[in-house]
Amino acid sequence: MSATRKAYRAALLHSVADPADVGVEQSYQYFEDGLLVVDNGKISALGHAGDLLPTLAADIEVVHYQDALITPGFIDTHIHFPQTGMIGSYGEQLLDWLNTYTFPCEKQFADKDHADKVAKIFVEELLRNGTTTALVFGSVHPESVNAFFEEAERLDLRMIAGKVMMDRNAPDYLVDTAETGYTESKALIQRWHGKGRLHYAVTPRFAPTSTPEQLALAGQLLEEHPDVYMHTHLSENLKEIEWVKALFPERSGYLDVYDHFKLLGKRSVFAHGVHLCDSECERLHETESAVAFCPTSNLFLGSGLFNLPQAEKFKVKVGLGTDVGAGTSFSLLNTLNEAYKVMQLQGARLSPFKSLYLATLGGARALSLDDRIGTLEPGTDADFIVLDYKATPLLDYRIQQSNNIEETLFVLTTLGDDRTIRETYAAGRCVHQR
Ligand code: GUN
Ligand code: ZN
Repeated sequence: MSATRKAYRAALLHSVADPADVGVEQSYQYFEDGLLVVDNGKISALGHAGDLLPTLAADIEVVHYQDALITPGFIDTHIHFPQTGMIGSYGEQLLDWLNTYTFPCEKQFADKDHADKVAKIFVEELLRNGTTTALVFGSVHPESVNAFFEEAERLDLRMIAGKVMMDRNAPDYLVDTAETGYTESKALIQRWHGKGRLHYAVTPRFAPTSTPEQLALAGQLLEEHPDVYMHTHLSENLKEIEWVKALFPERSGYLDVYDHFKLLGKRSVFAHGVHLCDSECERLHETESAVAFCPTSNLFLGSGLFNLPQAEKFKVKVGLGTDVGAGTSFSLLNTLNEAYKVMQLQGARLSPFKSLYLATLGGARALSLDDRIGTLEPGTDADFIVLDYKATPLLDYRIQQSNNIEETLFVLTTLGDDRTIRETYAAGRCVHQR
């Protein structure tokens, strides 16, 4: 019997569809006493413990978790690795926040030793929070991406990252050129894309910090490497949107700038999209582009309230992003807590199962990786987490009052945080234990 085969017994829950498409009841699968079988880094079976246990060979180790729920690992569709050290910086909105705090912090990533040190802290923080896949902004320095990917590779994580391209409207110490942005990105693609479970994302910071020449070269990189990602920011802040209009007066709007340079597509993820019009949502849908909903960041920077019902109406793919360091937590549970409030402020609801979807399968679909991650389906990567119903005295007491998994799930997303993550597994290996 393969020594890599192992089974995990606990309550099991995963999304199988978007509640917006099939209704809440059809959107998930739940086994109150479930069994997850893992073989060679992949999930090989999932079902009721009573059905599956008799089918297992006698020598297979079964880990039995009490008072615990296994779900797929969380997927963070927008986060900045070099902003780890400036999370929680006071008082500014987007453009001043970038100049005052962000750029000086990112400057330090020219130093590989610094980048290595922060990569360890950053990846550990992801895993402590149950995030097994993230779409990650580096800094402008290739060193930042090397440091991050080296750490992700060491732990055999499925991660996506790219070096920032920015050749204007930023301090001299932090810009590349259209040409070096292209050549450095290309070298990183050649070094990292497809290595283990790593993927590269072409990463122009946002329209204001790239010249048209650089955006055109970003589009060229995507044409030359059709299976890499594109990752940028879009329509986050009203002053930012005005600035884009002034810089690109010949374009019909912010999204049209990216569209013009051929940056939309099924592996393109746009962070925020707080102020989108209907025609932009239509275009995102048509091109299978995705938006990363980043509630803690949007509230912290006072950017606005993401209109999830609008995205649903136009069938735009949506994932959840922490957007650390503008976001205030690495935890997707915390992020869902704020997402719920963002919906409340707009007179809308976020059901617990939609929350689960956003943090798992929705993120996987936003990244076109739903055949590999985001569910507990047999054949997918064994990236899963064990949530602890007794993580804190209050959570324990509150869950004792819960009547069903829907209520329990809502309590987990409202009260949960890093303490709730008992264990994190990546490719079948335990990579975090609280
Ligand atoms: N827009 C351009 N750069 C950034 C960034 O670093 N963070 C956020 N939230 N928005 C941006
Ligand atoms: Zn961001």
